[in-house]
Amino acid sequence: TWTPGNIIDDQVARIREQVGDRQVLCALSGGVDSAVAAALVQRAIGDQLTCVFVDHGLLRAGEAAQVEKDYVAVTNVRLVVKNVEEQFLSHLKGVEDPEQKRKIIGREFIRTFEAAARELDAERHIEFLVQGTLYPDVVESGGGTGTANIKSHHNVGGLPDDLQFALIEPLRTLFKDEVRAIGKELGLPDEIVQRHPFPGPGLAIRIIGAIDRERLDILRAADLIAREELAASGLDREVWQFPVVLLADVRSVGVQGDGRTYGHPVVLRPVSSEDAMTADWSRLPYDLIAKISNRITNEVREVNRVVLDVTSKPPGTIEWE
Ligand code: XMP
Repeated sequence: TWTPGNIIDDQVARIREQVGDRQVLCALSGGVDSAVAAALVQRAIGDQLTCVFVDHGLLRAGEAAQVEKDYVAVTNVRLVVKNVEEQFLSHLKGVEDPEQKRKIIGREFIRTFEAAARELDAERHIEFLVQGTLYPDVVESGGGTGTANIKSHHNVGGLPDDLQFALIEPLRTLFKDEVRAIGKELGLPDEIVQRHPFPGPGLAIRIIGAIDRERLDILRAADLIAREELAASGLDREVWQFPVVLLADVRSVGVQGDGRTYGHPVVLRPVSSEDAMTADWSRLPYDLIAKISNRITNEVREVNRVVLDVTSKPPGTIEWE
């Protein structure tokens, strides 16, 4: 019978057999899949696994620390952190076009990961790469019909010819809820295993307009409030994802105390979905929306207006860019 424990035992045995005494690399993104895949491989081969975390400065509040501290504390994984915020922000400076942002981030991510892999390879020859591929990913990329390419998604792929690794994909036969069950069984905290999906390009595609540190900080503050209040309401699991979007080039007039304000709006985009291919806007309770709105406008100085996105997918996509 299927239990998380059985799957773990089975995968641990397979990974040990596949890897022997050789060295393995894994890129951690902060997301559920890579976190569980790496924890499983670590369980199997311990110190022969090294994880690389590219901190590009586009994550939400507390996420980098969660990988660097909580995740490492629980899994005991050897972690190399590449702090490349400055590099990413300088390449993204002044860029407004969504596809341009995605391409730059994808390219810089691969560059950074590749450099880290080379450095590590010089120290201990790496022969395997762990990927958190799930069953739906396998089906989607194998399906012959092909879907229209609406946004260029970024994932770790295409490494150069002289860096060739065999793949370890321990989650290949599993669905998301099974992956979460395994993560829990491996001792990962709820903040990691129950996390909503988050796009590879991060907050860069939730700032409409050019990206800089200040704008990222504004969005991080608003996003944290939405996440806190959603969690406190207990409706976290009803919602597939809850992007908060900063309309950085839009300003509107407001009033606070006796004074006029001229601030930015943020958009709340809570959606319900099965697989992100289609989605509907979540009918969150008005009291919850009100609480989030009040807190954001009170606590985030630059934001003086909060709006709710009531568009399904299609025609809207989940992310704004
Ligand atoms: P859209 O906006 O196309 O998003 O409705 C569908 C799902 O994909 C996520 N998303 C991404 N995930 N890399 C990712 O790993 C990406 O470049 C990317 N772009 C969008 C999005 O958050 C949603 O879950």
